[in-house]
Amino acid sequence: MTSTVLITGASQGIGKATALLFAQQGYNIVLAARHADRLNEVCQTITASGQSALAVPTDVRSFDQVNALVETALDYYKSIDVLVNNAGIYISGPVAQFSLEDWHQTIDTNLWGYIHTVHALLPHWVEQGNGTIVNVSSIGGKVAVPYLTPYTTSKFAVTGFTEALRTELSSKGIHVCGIYPNLIKSSFLERAIFRGENAQDVHDRRRQVSQTLNAPMVEKPEDVAQAIWKAVQNKEKEVLVGSAKLSATANEVFPGIMQWMLKHIFKNRD
Ligand SMILES: NC(=O)c1ccc[n+]([C@@H]2O[C@H](COP(=O)([O-])OP(=O)(O)OC[C@H]3O[C@@H](n4cnc5c(N)ncnc54)[C@H](OP(=O)(O)O)[C@@H]3O)[C@@H](O)[C@H]2O)c1
Repeated sequence: MTSTVLITGASQGIGKATALLFAQQGYNIVLAARHADRLNEVCQTITASGQSALAVPTDVRSFDQVNALVETALDYYKSIDVLVNNAGIYISGPVAQFSLEDWHQTIDTNLWGYIHTVHALLPHWVEQGNGTIVNVSSIGGKVAVPYLTPYTTSKFAVTGFTEALRTELSSKGIHVCGIYPNLIKSSFLERAIFRGENAQDVHDRRRQVSQTLNAPMVEKPEDVAQAIWKAVQNKEKEVLVGSAKLSATANEVFPGIMQWMLKHIFKNRD
């Protein structure tokens, strides 16, 4: 029987690259994101290649919408084998400049979005006796990044969520894997939130990230998609994608220097 993967944030960036790769490998694909137009484009690309795909516009911040997504997918494909929790947003600035709404938007998407899918899928997987959860965290979920405080808070929480789930669910046949990319040249600037001391600070912060993304060594969504594919095939516990390994090692060996460096990179006008 053909395996099915459900991917959140599948209309762009890492989620889209993962959807296209799993489709190439013969999976049925359930695609979720908020905007139906882009989601349908990815769906059409997959069906035109001869694979089956289902687009379900969903805001992962709403448990009702996520539950409806899971029910629709189960009605259509009868089973879901792999969940890729990926929908997320980037947020940057001095911590005092974030509103509580900024904090909620970040935690609701990057953490609650992941909890919602797992909560909706678990009864099905416990009954089925198998399943794979892939949580796309970030190097910001292993190394605390100043000026990315809400983002790094959400990603450290995803790391804890992933590790606790892995230990608890292995005896039920459910495999859990964490994926930790470094900066990736995706479309995240489209929905990223930047805050600052003033308009110039906000502008400079956005420009700094935009310029860094153009550096040749910055990895691509396809690199993360490959890491996710291999992690699912080999039942890996966690994957630090490409250059993220170097960042994690540097932080372990020279934590003080790493934090000093990160502070100076992101501080801008603060
Ligand atoms: N790019 C990086 O540098 C990087 C590095 C490390 C980790 N990551 C992580 O990788 C994941 C994917 O990032 P990306 O760079 O590929 O981002 P991206 O290009 O901005 O794509 C984000 C995807 O998530 C969807 N999305 C956002 N909010 C959503 C919501 N509330 N409900 C449902 N879907 C939502 C977006 O579609 P809609 O707007 O239509 O909903 C889009 O499909 C994120 O978890 C991110 O934190 C990224």
